[in-house]
Order: sequence, then structure tokens, then C-alpha cells
Amino acid sequence: MKYEFPVTRTKNPKKRPEDETKLGFAKYFTDHMFVMDYDEGQGWHDGRVVPHEPILIEPASCVLHYAQMMFEGMKAYRRPDGVIQLFRPDMNVKRMVSTCERMCMPYLPDDLLVAAVEAVIKEDADWIPTAPGTSLYIRPFLFGDEVSFSVLPAKHYRFMIILSPTGSYYAANDGGLSATRIFVQDKYIRAAQGGTGYAKVGGNYGGGMRASQDAMKYDCKDVLWLDAAEHKYVEEIGTSNAFFMINDEVITASLDSGTILPGITRNSVIQLLKHFGIKVREGKLSIDEIVAASKDGSLKEIFASGTAAVISPIGCLNYNGTDYTVNGGNVGPVAQKLYDTLYGMQTGVVEDFMGWTYPLDVKVENK
Ligand code: COI
Repeated sequence: MKYEFPVTRTKNPKKRPEDETKLGFAKYFTDHMFVMDYDEGQGWHDGRVVPHEPILIEPASCVLHYAQMMFEGMKAYRRPDGVIQLFRPDMNVKRMVSTCERMCMPYLPDDLLVAAVEAVIKEDADWIPTAPGTSLYIRPFLFGDEVSFSVLPAKHYRFMIILSPTGSYYAANDGGLSATRIFVQDKYIRAAQGGTGYAKVGGNYGGGMRASQDAMKYDCKDVLWLDAAEHKYVEEIGTSNAFFMINDEVITASLDSGTILPGITRNSVIQLLKHFGIKVREGKLSIDEIVAASKDGSLKEIFASGTAAVISPIGCLNYNGTDYTVNGGNVGPVAQKLYDTLYGMQTGVVEDFMGWTYPLDVKVENK
């Protein structure tokens, strides 16, 4: 379906970040945003592109009390020929549907998410950075803003998209890869079976902050979560999926438990590893097996994957007061190859041999 969204251009364009190599993650926001409303009985209506500015929200809105919300994470990249492209947006659409079903929220009709992303990017395409490791982070989100204290699904929702020129979440200063320290969390949990672990909801992240804050006291960037039932099997790393290479096999937690976020980068990594002829297994891996593999030298690499994190190598696990160094604390060859291939495809400098990139009808003059 072809959508037409009215555009109100900003009268006060913002000053652009001066140094693209120091963008950090989501510190700057572009000039425009997308907004759309939903009313029970009417459905989604009044999609529009407007200046990015604070919104009014009634203090009794249900999202502020019961957290009925969801969000997505996507990125747009500027190819060398100036064409702007997305990466596997069909997977965001699919995940958005499953999150909305879990949260009793109305999801967007088929192609509306991508049409809305394209509409707002058209206004701000020249904000897309090109320095190594950068991209335009796209944050679609949806929340119930009905005035109600009943613990029931709202009858009115708002959907919005905001954009941020950004570096990688755990970026090195030069935009390249560097290995981070991660704290193995065996007290707090991220998600239990039957909960919302597989859904992209704010509560999963808010509930993880205590653990991440504690990890920082040990000079760690984030946590490695263990399963909720036995505190034994590895699940995710901070805001990302986790991969462990032991001998010649790469292992990641399976989606079957419903506690793991079905990452788009996770799925891409699994397919790329298979393409490279590297063995990959989705299943259970205990922290005890990782410690044993570290001691006998068979633990080769650990890395996290995510839209924000891209591929983030882990150089050290801190567990029960002991440091377990991985690959001498350096970036491993598998993580490096995955990063170069994925980010290369996304930015159009490596041929997209998987058919994953999604060029938009938007082109900008290159710098
Ligand atoms: C993403 O990778 O897009 C995420 O949503 C992670 C974010 C919480 C930093």
C-alpha cells in the first residue's frame, strides 16, 4: 500500500554534531520525528512527520504507570553512491507483531513501519553519518496513553519514530572494535520462562539496570545473564545476544525458552557463520563449561551481537571474583570477520550476498 504522510518542517534546524567520530550512542537527535495515533474502533490514523520536540502526555496515561509499551531498534546507512538503505526491516516488522501480541497492543498494518521510517528519513537523510562504525539509529516505539489506572490494555496509543546519528553502543574511540569486560550476573535475572524476555519492551531493560550498575563497580561494561531457573546457563550479554566459540564451534542460547530476544543481528550472525563454514549451535551452555574451556584453552572467542552493539567482542569475563581472559583480551578473528562483513554489507562496501539490504527511495549527495 502507498502511504502519504503530511510533513511539517522544523523552523529551527539543529546544529549538527561537529565530530562524527565522537557521536556516542543516541546523544543527538535529528530535526524530525514520525507520530501516529490509534483509537479503538478507528484503528491507526493521522500519521505525520513533525519537528522533533517534547510531547505532551497526560500524567495519568497508563504507560507511565503500567509500562504498556514496546520499541524497536533499526539502522539506516548511507552507501558510497548516496543511496540510503535499511537492514532486514522485515524482521523488525515480525518482531514488532510478536511483541505487540504479548503486550496486548495493536500492531501496525503490514508495510506501515517501513513506510513511516522512509517518510521521516526522507526529511533527515543528510544527518546520516559516514565515519567508520557510525549509522543512523532508528527508534520506533509505541505506548498506551489512555488516561486510566485500570490494569487493562489501553484504548488509545501513540506510535512514534525518532532518529539519532550514532556510533556503536560499546564503541571503541576510533569507531572500530575493542574487546570489553563483562560481569557474570548470578544474582539478578533478566527474564524467566513465560515472561517477556522475547519481547522488545522497556521493562526488560529497566529491570536490568540494577545489575548493569553493579557490574560497573567491577570495571565491567555490562553483564552476562544466566537463566532464571538454575542460574547456570548463559542467556544474553547486556542489551545484546551472546555467542561463545569453544574449539571450532560457536554456541548461542536457543530461542526455545522464550527468554531470549530474537535479535536480527543474532539471526544474521548464525546464517553468516554457516555461510563461512563455521559450526554453529543454538542450545544450552553452562557457565561451568565456559570456565572449564577458559582453563583448558578451548574457549576461543566471546562476542555480543545487536542492532546497537553490532558485533562487540568480549575480552574478559569476571565471574565470582575471578577474571577469565578471552583470546588474550583481544578482538578475535571470527568476531572481526563478522563485523567487517555485516557492517560492510550494511554500508554498501561489501557485496550483499545474502539479499539483506533494503534500499530506500532516498538518496543524498555524498560528503
Ligand atoms: C538495539 O540493539 O537496538 C537495542 O534495542 C538495544 C538498546 C537497548 C541499546
